[in-house]
Amino acid sequence: MRKKILVGASVVLIAGLALTGCSSRGGSGSDSGASIKKGDTIGVALPAKTSQNWVLAGAAFKKSIEAAGFKADIQYAAATGTVSDQQGQISGMVTKGDKAIIIGAADGSQLGTQVKAAKTSGATVIAWDRNILNTKNVDYYVAFNNYKVGQLQANALLDGLKAKKSSGPYNIELFAGSPDDANATVFFNGAMSVLQPKIDDGTLKVVSGQTTFKQVNTQGWLAQNAQSRMSDILTKSYTDTDLDGVLSPNDTLARAILTATKAAGKSNPVITGQDSETASIPLIMNGTQYSTIYKNTTEEAQAAIDLVSDLAAGKTPKTTKDKNNDNGAKIVPAVELTPILVTKENAVEAYKGNDTLEALAKQG
Ligand code: BGC
Repeated sequence: MRKKILVGASVVLIAGLALTGCSSRGGSGSDSGASIKKGDTIGVALPAKTSQNWVLAGAAFKKSIEAAGFKADIQYAAATGTVSDQQGQISGMVTKGDKAIIIGAADGSQLGTQVKAAKTSGATVIAWDRNILNTKNVDYYVAFNNYKVGQLQANALLDGLKAKKSSGPYNIELFAGSPDDANATVFFNGAMSVLQPKIDDGTLKVVSGQTTFKQVNTQGWLAQNAQSRMSDILTKSYTDTDLDGVLSPNDTLARAILTATKAAGKSNPVITGQDSETASIPLIMNGTQYSTIYKNTTEEAQAAIDLVSDLAAGKTPKTTKDKNNDNGAKIVPAVELTPILVTKENAVEAYKGNDTLEALAKQG
């Protein structure tokens, strides 16, 4: 009898908790029920500026945070000691009481302790551009669809190769991003979903034999690492053969790879990229780099701030569940934006509305 009463009591308790959970305005989606309101501070922790998109992100966030009526606390990790620097910055944001913390991770697998502290403080945690791994303490992920980025790159590589030489086999090499960036594997997996069948049927030949992420990644997304790997491969595997194409995960690395092919006296390979960096647009327009991807950083920052504004207004943000955003502990509910493939053919059109890029495309 006694037991029965206890069971009954705990059912009531659980029902009560569930109700509290439902009615807590969804503020942070957290159990703490704390919610953000206009005038509160939003912390933005960004990684080192390894590519132009990160350089643009800080100013884009400042503008959209202030326009939405919040205060901005924006910090970049230093180029060296990036991980510990970012960990310290996030802990500082928690201590200061920032109500939402947006993180572009320097190393997505090393922020477990910091995001746990953020959640405990009642802040909403948003992974931005790069996912944060192996933790349940991340509420949302705002990014471009990274798998799609990889697919677009791979299809562009195939198109470029076909335009160069009507039939294969084509000699190619593969490059991926940094293993500490969760995006890098997703980009690569997206690309390989398109390229692997073509490698299997003999259309594409990876002459170096290096086809796994482990073999083709570029530590730190650093240009010099991609350049030296390319030089190495050219010396070892391309003395008597031509290199037709290269899968490059971004523009910075594409330019580094092109430096290596040029130094080795190779004719210009069909090469992909990403980020629509100002240094690469002229190369796209003159045919040196075949393609890039346009991911509008301003829109990406705005999407994160719109999400925070929704929470502040007590609205439930619209999110999707994409298995590519499984961080090892959960599929992080995401706001996913659509990346655009850019080649010489559509550049002017694709960059409409972005004065700097459009002008560069028009200059040809
Ligand atoms: C971003 C890319 C960028 C790369 C290197 C990735 O996480 O999504 O746009 O090229 O980092 O900075």
